[in-house]
Amino acid sequence: TILILDFGSQYSHLIARRVREFGVYCEMLPCTQKINELNLNPKGIILSGSPYSVYDKDAPHVDPMVFNLGVPVLGICYGLQEISWNFGGSIAPCNHREYGHAMLNIIKHQNHPFANKLFDGLEGDIQVWMSHGDQLDRAPDGFKVIGCTQTSPFAAIINEEKYLFGIQFHPEVTHTPRGKDILKNFVASVCECQTNWTMESFIDKEIGRIRQIVGPNGQVVGAVSGGVDSTVAAKLMKEAIGDRFHAVLVDNGVMRLNECQTVKKLLGDHLGINLKVVDASDKFLDRLKGVTDPEKKRKIIGNTFIEVFESEAAKIDLETKESGHGNIEYLLQGTLYPDVIESISFKGPSATIKTHHNVGGLTKNMKLKLIEPLRELFKDEVRELGKILSIDEDLVWRHPFPGPGIAIRILGEVTPSQVAIVRAADHIYIEEIKKAGLYRKISQAYAALLPVKAVGVMGDKRTYEQVIALRAVETTDFMTADWFPFPYDVLKRISNRIINEVKGVNRVVYDVSSKPPATIEW
Ligand code: XMP
Repeated sequence: TILILDFGSQYSHLIARRVREFGVYCEMLPCTQKINELNLNPKGIILSGSPYSVYDKDAPHVDPMVFNLGVPVLGICYGLQEISWNFGGSIAPCNHREYGHAMLNIIKHQNHPFANKLFDGLEGDIQVWMSHGDQLDRAPDGFKVIGCTQTSPFAAIINEEKYLFGIQFHPEVTHTPRGKDILKNFVASVCECQTNWTMESFIDKEIGRIRQIVGPNGQVVGAVSGGVDSTVAAKLMKEAIGDRFHAVLVDNGVMRLNECQTVKKLLGDHLGINLKVVDASDKFLDRLKGVTDPEKKRKIIGNTFIEVFESEAAKIDLETKESGHGNIEYLLQGTLYPDVIESISFKGPSATIKTHHNVGGLTKNMKLKLIEPLRELFKDEVRELGKILSIDEDLVWRHPFPGPGIAIRILGEVTPSQVAIVRAADHIYIEEIKKAGLYRKISQAYAALLPVKAVGVMGDKRTYEQVIALRAVETTDFMTADWFPFPYDVLKRISNRIINEVKGVNRVVYDVSSKPPATIEW
C-alpha cells in the first residue's frame, strides 16, 4: 500500500490514479492524518501539492511522525517544500511564478545507487510541468540535488539516510511525459511495492468484506437508478449476499422513455438482482404541479424519493421477517472515490469531514448503516469492474443522468404532456447519436424543453409550438465542459426527426455554451 497525504492540490486524485494503474493499492487521506491513528501499513508515502505556501499562517502541515516511519517519502511541489520546512531548508516566493512547461536537468550521482533510483532509466533534460509560486532557495542539510531547472536550482532533492525525495514539478500530469516512469520508479523500485493489485483481486476482497460486515443473515437495501454506479454496486452486493440484497427502483414519473422496463430487464432479468419496482409517478407528478423553480423541483423530488424509498424498505423488512433473516441494517450506496475525497479532502486548517450521500438524508431517519463498495474506485475503474461483472456494455458506458430526472430539463411546469414531449425528443436524439457512433465521444447529452412557443409552418398550416434545445458536452470531471462539435449532417437528421416525429415541437436549437459560465443542465 502507498499512502497519499492530500494537501488540497487539484492534481491529488491523479497521483492516486497513477499508482493504481501500476497495480499498487493506494489510499489518499487528508494531510492532517495522525500517523498513530492510521490502520494501514504503507510501504511508502506521497505528499501532494497544495494551494498554500508553507509559511502561511494557516498552512497545513503533516504529522512529523511521517518522517519517522522508516518508509520512503516523496514530496511533490508543496510536498517538497513541506519536507524542506521540516528539515530546516529555506523556501521563498519565486520572482516569477513558474507555471507550465520547464526542462528538468537530471543529476546522477556516481556510487549512490539509491539516490539515482527515482530517475532510473531517465537522463539529461526531460520535460516537466511546473505550477508553483514558492520554491526552495536552500536545501536542508543532508540533502543532495538530483535535478534542477533554469529557475529552480533545487527542483529535485534526496536525503538518502532518511529515504526522503522531493520534486518541485508534477509527475502525475500528462504534461510531464515521463512522469509515469518517475512515479513508478518511486512505487516499485524505491518502495518495493508489489504490482499485483487488479480489479479481480478487488472483487474478491470486496465480496469478502461485505460478507463479513453483513454477516450470514443480515440484509441490505439499496436504491438503483439504471446508472452505472448503482448497478455495479448492486451486482457486487448480489454476488456477495444473493437475495438478501434488495434493490428498489422508484419510478418518479420523470425518467427517460421506457426506463423502468429497461432497468428491470437489465438488472432483474439479466443480472438476477432481487429488484422491486415501485411506481410512484403519480405522487411525484402531483407534487410537482404548478412548480417552475428548478431548485424547488429538486427538493420536492429529493424529499418524495426519501419518503417512498423508506416506506418500501420498511415493507421489505416486514415481508422478509418470516424468511428467518435478520432486519435490514445496511443501506447500499454507489459512492465513488472522488465523492469520498471531495468530502474528506483538506479544506482549511483542519480536515473537514462531511459525509457525502448520493441521496442525502436517507440514513438519518432510517437508522441504517452505509455500505459503499465502490468508495475506493474512480469512474473508469467502475466501468472496468462492470465489464468483469458481465454488466451490459451499453449500461456500463451510459451518460450520467440527474436524480431529479427530466423535471429539470423541462423548463417551466412539469406536466404529463411536457414529460411526454421531452421523453420522445430525447429518445430520438440519443438514438441518432448512437447511430452516428458518437455516444462514447460525448460525456453527456440530452434534450431540454423550453417554455416558449414559436411560430412555424407545416404543410400549409401555421403552427405555434414549443422549442427543443439539444445539449451535448465533452468533459472529464463535469466541473468544466465544452459543447460538442456535432457534424452538421447529424444535427440535421436529429432536428428533422424530432420536428417530424414529436408532436408539439416545431423548432430545434443546439446549445453552444461551455461550462463555465453555463452549466451542463439547463
Ligand atoms: P451542472 O448542471 O451542475 O451538472 O453543470 C453537472 C453534473 O451534475 C448533474 N446534475 C445533477 N445530478 N441531481 C443529480 O443527481 C441534480 O440535481 C443535478 N443537477 C445536475 C448533471 O447532469 C451533470 O452530470
